[in-house]
Amino acid sequence: MLGASYREMVRRDLPKVMSLSHDNMANIIFSSWGVELRDEDIMRFILRPTALNEVLEKDGEIIGYYSVDIRADNLLINSIQVQRDFQGQGLGTDMMKRIAELAYHNGMNSIDLWVQITNRPAIAFYRHRGYRAISRQGNNYLMRKVLDRGGEGVENPSLSAGSA
Ligand SMILES: CC(C)(COP(=O)(O)OP(=O)(O)OC[C@H]1O[C@@H](n2cnc3c(N)ncnc32)[C@H](O)[C@@H]1OP(=O)(O)O)[C@@H](O)C(=O)NCCC(=O)NCCS
Repeated sequence: MLGASYREMVRRDLPKVMSLSHDNMANIIFSSWGVELRDEDIMRFILRPTALNEVLEKDGEIIGYYSVDIRADNLLINSIQVQRDFQGQGLGTDMMKRIAELAYHNGMNSIDLWVQITNRPAIAFYRHRGYRAISRQGNNYLMRKVLDRGGEGVENPSLSAGSA
């Protein structure tokens, strides 16, 4: 995977995580919600006690991250971000696969995420990985992927379907 690897996000990563999020999301947030993206909005989900955050690193530089929330029977993707010049190379697909595996091994039945209705590339990206819009709140869609858990010892088909 492009020689990139995952590790847990720590506090010193936050400046890079913020700048990457702003580069990727500021325009989308403004066009969808009409407000500026604030660091506090990102910090709010990253610092939640139930959040699991990992950065993707290549040559010691952060080139992406994801944040998920492990809930009762369902995993919520808070954010998934790949630095612009590394997009379109399969890293996002790999992160979605990692998230699906995490959900599966934690006994979750489904994975949820919110996406801004103006973020068409991300909506297509999620659709291609088995997520479907199940409701709309304001300018956001709630998308869900139901994990087919199969029987004991049966490989989960939704994982292979979810990866490119
Ligand atoms: C959405 C995102 C996480 C996907 O990560 P990625 O590493 O670009 O994803 P991949 O390379 O695995 O796949 C991207 C898809 O776009 C296509 N693509 C082709 N060229 C591309 C390019 N230059 N840039 C982005 N995507 C490209 C890929 O073929 C693939 O299509 P598919 O869905 O039919 O498989 C990433 O583009 C991103 O960070 N976007 C901005 C932040 C964002 O919108 N996050 C989601 C918030 S809800």
